[in-house]
Amino acid sequence: MQLSVALDLPTADENLSLATKLATYDDLWMKVGFRSYIRDGRPFIEAIKAINPHFRIFLDLKLYDIPNTMADAAEEIAAIDVDMFNIHASAGEIAMRTVMARLDKQKQRPLVLAVTALTSFDEEGFSAIYGKSIDEKAAQFAKMSYENGLDGVVCSTFESRAIKEVTSEDFLTLCPGIRPFGEDAGDQQRIATLERAKAEMVDFPVIGRPIYQDPDPAKKVAQILPLL
Ligand code: C5P
Repeated sequence: MQLSVALDLPTADENLSLATKLATYDDLWMKVGFRSYIRDGRPFIEAIKAINPHFRIFLDLKLYDIPNTMADAAEEIAAIDVDMFNIHASAGEIAMRTVMARLDKQKQRPLVLAVTALTSFDEEGFSAIYGKSIDEKAAQFAKMSYENGLDGVVCSTFESRAIKEVTSEDFLTLCPGIRPFGEDAGDQQRIATLERAKAEMVDFPVIGRPIYQDPDPAKKVAQILPLL
């Protein structure tokens, strides 16, 4: 497993100070979301890489638009030294193929993941839009992403193994809602420990609050890394 740290603090300075505290760990992924990217943009990505050039960047922008517009955005993302980004699976197969075809023209391309089901949905709200249960649709979206050349999906830890069964062991799963040692759930509904994430073959556990709310984030990461 490879640890992805969610840089969800309110300001660029606080996020960069967190990244600086973790600068001795080469193998980390840094998850940059909407808020940071909209406010702090490309210079923020460059500032993270300046702290440790080995840090890899996961740009969590969940693209959803017409295929050509998504491919244009994917091309721009590839140009800014981002290592992984995501799109909504519900954008469809043509969008997936158009994005991957455009990226395949690059010498080096970022990994591309698809968001299956947003965890904020309950079953009723989800089926009102997608007409199926969350589990059923998540598996279908994962299969579709796999067949159209994506590298993996964002999903819950508890779906990770089933998704690999309908795709491939190498199809990546990135899972939020991890509480490494059973820490406070916060607003997460279903949380998993790192032990469980490992058992479910998760590739990228995403961890935010248990790291950045810890008085010593570097020590916390030092405790997490041997368990990956
Ligand atoms: O602080 P915590 O470890 O709960 O952070 C999890 C991160 O994963 C946050 O950045 C959150 O927005 C993100 N996320 C999530 N659930 C999803 C998708 C993303 O918690 N389904």
